[in-house]
Amino acid sequence: MDAPTMWRATTVQACGLWPFAAGSGSPLTGVPLGQHLFTGATVCGDPLSWFTRARYISNPSLFMLGMPGLGKSTLVNRMLIGLAATGTVPLVLGDLKPDYADTVRALGGQVIAVGRGVGGINVLDPGAMGEAALRIGGEAGRSLLAEAHGRVLNMVAALVTIVRGRPMDDHEQSVLSTALHLLRERTPGRVAVLPDLLALIGEGPDRLRAVTLDRGDTARYRDAVDPLHRSLMGLLDGPLGSTFASATSTRIDPGAPAVCVDISRIGEADTQLTAAAMLAAWSDGLGTVAASHALADAGLAPRRWFFTVLDELWRPLRSATGIVDRIDALTRLNRSLGLGDAKITHTLKDAEALGSDADRAKARGFVERAGMVVCAGLPRTEMEELGKIVGLSEREISLVSSWSSPPGWATGGVHDEPPGRGRFLIKVGGRPGIPIRVAITDAERDLHNTNTRWTPSTPATGT
Ligand SMILES: Nc1ncnc2c1ncn2[C@@H]1O[C@H](COP(=O)(O)OP(=O)(O)OP(=O)(O)O)[C@@H](O)[C@H]1O
Ligand SMILES: [Mg+2]
Repeated sequence: MDAPTMWRATTVQACGLWPFAAGSGSPLTGVPLGQHLFTGATVCGDPLSWFTRARYISNPSLFMLGMPGLGKSTLVNRMLIGLAATGTVPLVLGDLKPDYADTVRALGGQVIAVGRGVGGINVLDPGAMGEAALRIGGEAGRSLLAEAHGRVLNMVAALVTIVRGRPMDDHEQSVLSTALHLLRERTPGRVAVLPDLLALIGEGPDRLRAVTLDRGDTARYRDAVDPLHRSLMGLLDGPLGSTFASATSTRIDPGAPAVCVDISRIGEADTQLTAAAMLAAWSDGLGTVAASHALADAGLAPRRWFFTVLDELWRPLRSATGIVDRIDALTRLNRSLGLGDAKITHTLKDAEALGSDADRAKARGFVERAGMVVCAGLPRTEMEELGKIVGLSEREISLVSSWSSPPGWATGGVHDEPPGRGRFLIKVGGRPGIPIRVAITDAERDLHNTNTRWTPSTPATGT
């Protein structure tokens, strides 16, 4: 029997047919996500619209958890498409699978591949910030340049941290900072690369020597800079290959409607390069955001909002100590940067696997601070743990844990979908959760089918 047709109407019309209409209470601001599981009402939402227009949340950030394969990335892809339609720029700064490259391409955006032999990022390049500073000029331009300097310094320090496995010393940071200033003065009209920095430290000009307190003694200078010199050499010819040694292969286009930095060709075992590429992509991408806002402040460009996605969060978190701090800084700043973000991971246990207590606390802070928490199917123990952070009722816990059960034993070759695929519970503050069902369109299925490698190949037809 066919399912009865469903009609929608305003309460002005429908009350003629059924006078006892009541509002369903589901939010209708933002990207259409799916239907309420119990009432069938349309549910819309995304962290940016709920922060700016609906004011349901005080922080434009989304944290999504759930077992693998239940449709988390697919739902965030839908948010990307919806937000792009409103003029927001999606930025996927480090796509690990890739889950978003096809969507960004379909939106007319820019996809930049980074990896060994595929494409590199010059971490000394101030990128869009440098260009914007020149266009703006004056006091505002100078302060943007200073910010760009800080960003480059942080990025080189982060790379050194990754190859060393521990943070840089304070005095090395000041040597590095002076060296970067000198380098900019010496290479007017072109962007310096890491080998230039290495040569400068090797040469040891007077102004650089002064910061090391060498008192005219070359041996003292060498003692002070040798560890840094060695680490920088390790950057150019070590675990990171030559990915950061030459000019950026493709710069982020500040006018692109969407940007995806695809790092999927870096092998999963290559954790150092993954972390380094991800940090470089964030640094570059967030620099582009800062440049865009500075241009808008100066009245030189229209104001644009951005939406960043950090999928597979557990991978960068585990790849290097210090990464949690970076993500932490990003999330704390995103409101002032005009930036919404979505973080996706499997379970809260991903935070527990981190090395230090401080890192674990910071990673849990991501969930605590997220304006919007979305759960796909999770086992009961996980939901109880999550309930301590976001406040979940017994019914909500039972509902979401039922979505984590496996599909039935299908017979006769009929594919049984996992019961939780496309089911999500949206939690905001202490409000009751909104359970939704997401039905994907064929276009979405084609854009994001992570099971393609499980589809039997059709035999090649010979001619
Ligand atoms: N609502 C849906 N209805 C039907 N199929 C879906 C739905 N959402 C996703 N899928 C399909 O399920 C598969 C897995 O989806 P997706 O990659 O989004 O899951 P995920 O939760 O991100 O998994 P992982 O944790 O492994 O990244 C994809 O092939 C996708 O096309
Ligand atoms: Mg995914």
